[in-house]
Amino acid sequence: MAPRDDYHYNETVLAHIADPRNIGVIEDADAEGSGTNPACGDEVTLYLKFEGEAVTDARIRILGCGAITAAMSSLTDMVRGKTADELSEITAEEIAESIDGLPTHKRHCATLARRVLQNALKSRNVKNSP
Ligand code: FES
Repeated sequence: MAPRDDYHYNETVLAHIADPRNIGVIEDADAEGSGTNPACGDEVTLYLKFEGEAVTDARIRILGCGAITAAMSSLTDMVRGKTADELSEITAEEIAESIDGLPTHKRHCATLARRVLQNALKSRNVKNSP
């Protein structure tokens, strides 16, 4: 593996950028969360489908940088099979670590990914409330 530095994307991030996973929309999603970072203008939406308590599908729409693309692409794999309680505990650091880290100036992209996940969970709570 190439040595890491604090400026360039690592190979895992580059692989997600070249071939992002689970791009698309779930029309009948059980949860949907969006987020934007006004500083950079990146916009993301996450759609989740649950079966029982566990996530069975996750899709994303992204208008943003390579780091948010990689973070969200990896997140769609991380969430599968997890319950809402487990999803609520996923941290920005875990998202960044799932792609072997991000340069310091791009760490806010993992924070945006976590916020979008939290927003999706809130939308599910609203849909499930009486
Ligand atoms: Fe801001 Fe990617 S540069 S979320």
